[in-house]
Amino acid sequence: MAGNRTLTIIKPDAVEKNLIGEILQRFIDGGFRKLTEEKAKEFYKVHADKPFYNSLVAFMTSGPVVAAILEKDNAVEDFRKLIGATNPEEAEEGTIRKDYAESIERNCVHGSDADDTAQREGDFFFSELEKL
Ligand code: CMP
Repeated sequence: MAGNRTLTIIKPDAVEKNLIGEILQRFIDGGFRKLTEEKAKEFYKVHADKPFYNSLVAFMTSGPVVAAILEKDNAVEDFRKLIGATNPEEAEEGTIRKDYAESIERNCVHGSDADDTAQREGDFFFSELEKL
């Protein structure tokens, strides 16, 4: 049976031409799957006791998502600086959430909060084959 994963690289030519957004959109139009409810619940299980958990799971399964592992020295901290605070009202000027997020829930992007979480979350999306 055919597998359900593939790997893509948006290559330097496309990055240089500012085509990342356009190309990601084509991936989505081409049939990216949404997170299942089960997967979303598992991914955010540390928040299972929080009042926003059910709403968060509903939001995260409401449409396609794009997940990626990003590499950089000091990646967790630098990426969190780039995206800004969870609540866009508290996010610094120039951060992704300040510029684009509409609420604390609909905050555009996720970023791991520590190196060990980044490992778990990366494995969650990308390493299932290795666990078989
Ligand atoms: P994220 O960084 O992915 O981590 C947990 C997510 O839960 C968070 O982004 C938001 O989407 C959501 N979230 C966190 N706090 C709240 C809150 N107080 N109310 C609603 N949603 C929240």
